[in-house]
Amino acid sequence: MSVLEVIRERRSVRRYKGDPVPEETLARVLEAARLAPSAKNLQPWRLVVVRDQATKIGLAKAAFGQTFMSEADIVVAVCGFPERAYPRQGSYMNSWPIDLAIAFEHLILQASEEGLGTCWIGAFDETAVKAVLGVPAEVRVMAMTPLGWPAESPAPRGRKAMEEFVSYDRYR
Ligand SMILES: Cc1cc2nc3c(=O)[nH]c(=O)nc-3n(C[C@H](O)[C@H](O)[C@H](O)COP(=O)(O)O)c2cc1C
Repeated sequence: MSVLEVIRERRSVRRYKGDPVPEETLARVLEAARLAPSAKNLQPWRLVVVRDQATKIGLAKAAFGQTFMSEADIVVAVCGFPERAYPRQGSYMNSWPIDLAIAFEHLILQASEEGLGTCWIGAFDETAVKAVLGVPAEVRVMAMTPLGWPAESPAPRGRKAMEEFVSYDRYR
């Protein structure tokens, strides 16, 4: 599929078959994230790939009971290092969440290309996730996703019309 086709076909998947994801498929998904750009190429990130069932259940609990996460073969958490990222993106903010979001979306799009389902998980208790995964105090957790074979085919969610989304030459 073209990149645009993958983007069009991707959905947030909230039901999974537990069948294993082959190692070579997982390797391509992780490679897509590894190749992501980051401010000054500082790559202020680390992924945690979880296959252990008890750990996945712990992460689902830390995500306020989003139990579908633990149905998937894998849960991936993306962690960041604010002190090793570009501190003044746009002259006002640290780049770390931006860097991590780009890498995580690369992962999600490659997963979609492979026929795998994902669902960006932003609703979680960071302290609880850090305890489950043993993440050091200075490292942040930005997002998680289940990664596995979809057991549903969600309909597309609506998006803003192009004219509401973009203006040319001036902000309007
Ligand atoms: C930053 C962010 C946080 C999100 N957090 C959650 C979440 O905690 N649980 C969930 O089920 N979906 C979550 N989503 C998925 C969105 O609900 C979903 O992307 C949106 O409704 C559009 O649907 P689609 O992904 O199928 O196109 C999150 C998405 C983003 C980008």
